[in-house]
Amino acid sequence: MKYNNIINPFIISKDIPEAFFCDREEETNFLIKQIDNGRNTVIVSPRRMGKTGLIHHLFRQETIQERYTTFFVDIYPASSLQEMCYILGRSVFERLKAKKTQHWETFFQYMKSLRAGVRFDAVTGEPKLEVGIGAIEQPATTLEEIFDYLESSSIPCIVALDEFQQIAEFPEQRIEALLRSMIQNCRQTTFLFSGSKQHTINQIFLSKSRPFYQNAQLMDLKPLKPDVYTAFATRLFAQYDKQIESSVIAQVYTDYHATTWYMQMLMNELFALTGPGDTCTLEHLNQAQKNIIQVQEGSYMMQLNILSSKQKRLLQAIGKEGSVKAVTSQAFVKKHALDSASTVQSALRVLLEKDIVTADNGQYRVSDFFFGHWLQENY
Ligand SMILES: Nc1ncnc2c1ncn2[C@@H]1O[C@H](COP(=O)(O)OP(=O)(O)OP(=O)(O)O)[C@@H](O)[C@H]1O
Ligand SMILES: [Mg+2]
Repeated sequence: MKYNNIINPFIISKDIPEAFFCDREEETNFLIKQIDNGRNTVIVSPRRMGKTGLIHHLFRQETIQERYTTFFVDIYPASSLQEMCYILGRSVFERLKAKKTQHWETFFQYMKSLRAGVRFDAVTGEPKLEVGIGAIEQPATTLEEIFDYLESSSIPCIVALDEFQQIAEFPEQRIEALLRSMIQNCRQTTFLFSGSKQHTINQIFLSKSRPFYQNAQLMDLKPLKPDVYTAFATRLFAQYDKQIESSVIAQVYTDYHATTWYMQMLMNELFALTGPGDTCTLEHLNQAQKNIIQVQEGSYMMQLNILSSKQKRLLQAIGKEGSVKAVTSQAFVKKHALDSASTVQSALRVLLEKDIVTADNGQYRVSDFFFGHWLQENY
């Protein structure tokens, strides 16, 4: 297929056409096998490695599309079970609508709690869900209805719950036990969970005392392999009559810890900086980084402004160092004129919780590499 209208093949938005999606063959086959054998899977990785992209890629596979109905549900915006139910109910509804099925009667039969909110457009006959979150008075009942409905379908379903760690924040009691019992009752619906807060995800799925223990198999999504990513980037440059030296790709791969989103951002900018017929070299790299950071500068300032002064100073210190092991050591506290080890400790906790700082192999660093570079240069 030709994509003449695509000017830059390094896609940094959510929907990546298959032609611009890099590899993940092994992972996709593994997931297909899991699903075909009725196993639930939880995908974990550091942020921006490609979990969501992988799920979409999986759902686009012919073998999946032909045999399953797929539901992708991002529960990140949900802060309660009620909101999660609403998002899930909506996505089931939208999916049904997109498929233009004749199954509205079955939907209404099962989804009693959402039924009242559906209106059919008088002219087009299009159904619309007009119910608000507040209409879900008993989330557990709605949830049960949704799962019963999925189970009643003649085609097995796959439900992907992205950002699943979010359930740990819900205020309601016994969420995990409730979800587990519903999921366990499903005979022909398979679940994919995914999340980037590895600690929380591990606690949910790997603690013996928690309901989800042994209810899903863990898939640790690794970075794309260096040779695979190099071949991918080289090929895309070549397709547009451009070249890139492999040393540039290698440098990006190392500097950004092989994290897909950062590599794609850099490649996107490097591609833009390379004229037709030209070769991208290490000299372009500095400029590309500068350009990306410049666009984000306003958002970095805002992120700094919402921190307390102690958190801000600690973040600036970590940014300045690049990566630090002993954040509470006397030497570090003194060097950066931070108040004391205990204030550093509490500021660090907040920065980690908010995912502004990451613990990486025993070293602390600013989670967003570009933000880190910016701090390094500006403080
Ligand atoms: N295999 C791939 N080929 C090309 N681009 C990819 C691939 N996987 C992911 N990307 C791109 O990398 C970025 C990050 O991917 P994605 O959003 O899937 O990561 P994630 O692990 O879900 O991140 P988060 O933890 O922040 O939700 C996206 O912009 C996506 O377009
Ligand atoms: Mg994601």
